[in-house]
Amino acid sequence: MPKEVIAIASDHGGFEFKEILKNELETLGFDVNDLGCHDESSVDYPDYADALADVMRDGVIKRGVLVCGSGIGISIAANRHAHIRAALVHDGLTARLSREHNDANVLVLGGRTTGVEVAKDCLKIFLNTGFEGGRHQNRINKMS
Ligand code: RB5
Repeated sequence: MPKEVIAIASDHGGFEFKEILKNELETLGFDVNDLGCHDESSVDYPDYADALADVMRDGVIKRGVLVCGSGIGISIAANRHAHIRAALVHDGLTARLSREHNDANVLVLGGRTTGVEVAKDCLKIFLNTGFEGGRHQNRINKMS
């Protein structure tokens, strides 16, 4: 069975974290589509949010991960795309709720605001938690 591909991207503020999370995803058995950035040179986070939204547009890649310094800018940029529900999370609880209540398809983390072990925990919870549907589905539909 082919491995699921997860898209990942960051700006320079999230570069180091992206590398760690990419390695974690590969360890967990996923293929990773790394859309950059590829070093700590200064770049603009909307370009990386847009790149991730582009590869998720046709629905083949269903889940993604974004990182910037705080996670704020790149989540704002990603959520300008109608098919993206990007959730900036800070701990296991918000990671779980982003899936159960919001059916988030993109996990967003702040590379300068979240600890590495907490981020790995968030990643695993995001990947392994299902959407509850029901009343939450109606709310998702109103955003589509
Ligand atoms: C880059 O310096 C920084 O502004 C960016 O990574 C992010 O934190 C923006 O929201």
